[in-house]
Amino acid sequence: MKVISELKETNSFVRKLRADGKKVGFVPTMGALHQGHISLIEASKNENDYTICSIYVNPTQFNNKEDFETYPNLFAQDKAKLEEAGCDVIFTPSHESMYPNGVDNLLSFDFGSLTSVLEGKYRPGHFSGVGIVVSKLLNIVMPDVAYFGQKDLQQFMVIRKLVSDLSIMTEVKSCPTLREPDGLAMSSRNLRLNEEERNIAPLLYRVLKEAKTALIEGNDVGNVQKKAFDSIAANALFTPEYIEVVDFNSFSLIKNGKINNSVAICLSAHLGKARLIDNVIVEV
Ligand code: PAF
Repeated sequence: MKVISELKETNSFVRKLRADGKKVGFVPTMGALHQGHISLIEASKNENDYTICSIYVNPTQFNNKEDFETYPNLFAQDKAKLEEAGCDVIFTPSHESMYPNGVDNLLSFDFGSLTSVLEGKYRPGHFSGVGIVVSKLLNIVMPDVAYFGQKDLQQFMVIRKLVSDLSIMTEVKSCPTLREPDGLAMSSRNLRLNEEERNIAPLLYRVLKEAKTALIEGNDVGNVQKKAFDSIAANALFTPEYIEVVDFNSFSLIKNGKINNSVAICLSAHLGKARLIDNVIVEV
């Protein structure tokens, strides 16, 4: 497995592969890899000749300085996991090469109504930073296919719009969320939970599953949403931020009535030092 930091070297490496008729899959990450990331590497390996994984903690997508500064850096472990998974290349650019003119006065993205809700509402500027770094990464790596996790569903919708609106020639795919045996969605941020918090964290997925059943049974969205929010808030260790039902295609909020299209139930809650997000899709 090669480790490349230089942008031009990465780009020429991929150009050569593609000139040789090889199909290139790409998994962008911020490191602190878990089995969820490895499942994306596996999906890429199954569908491509070469798999490239980037590890880059992108400063422009953090609206909270402390979150950025304390983001785990576990490169040696990550490298071993990627090696074992059969990844071909790790791309680890420096901040200086990604943002040679610094991060002030950068181009900014406005994804319209897609980002006025959920993560976009609670993390101002976050999706513009994601748009910038993903555009950069796709321009540098030029993969045939890029893989993202369903846990960050709104991020996937944003990236899908980005590649469509900018005619970026990469196919983007969303892969299922991987969960711990007790249902907690795998996330690098789970590392921040202490033992007590880790033990109660699966409540989020239980609440999502109950809400899903209630919607399928035809209950009113507003009532389901309130019950789910209250169930989380009832536990003093949690501070729920939002739990919303959104139309799966438009990502617009649904506030009441029975569902008659496929929806996603999305939530975010603070637990100790971690801010956790999760979602389930309800297909109709
Ligand atoms: O999902 C992530 O890990 C990041 O948001 C991404 C897509 C690698 C961009 O920094």
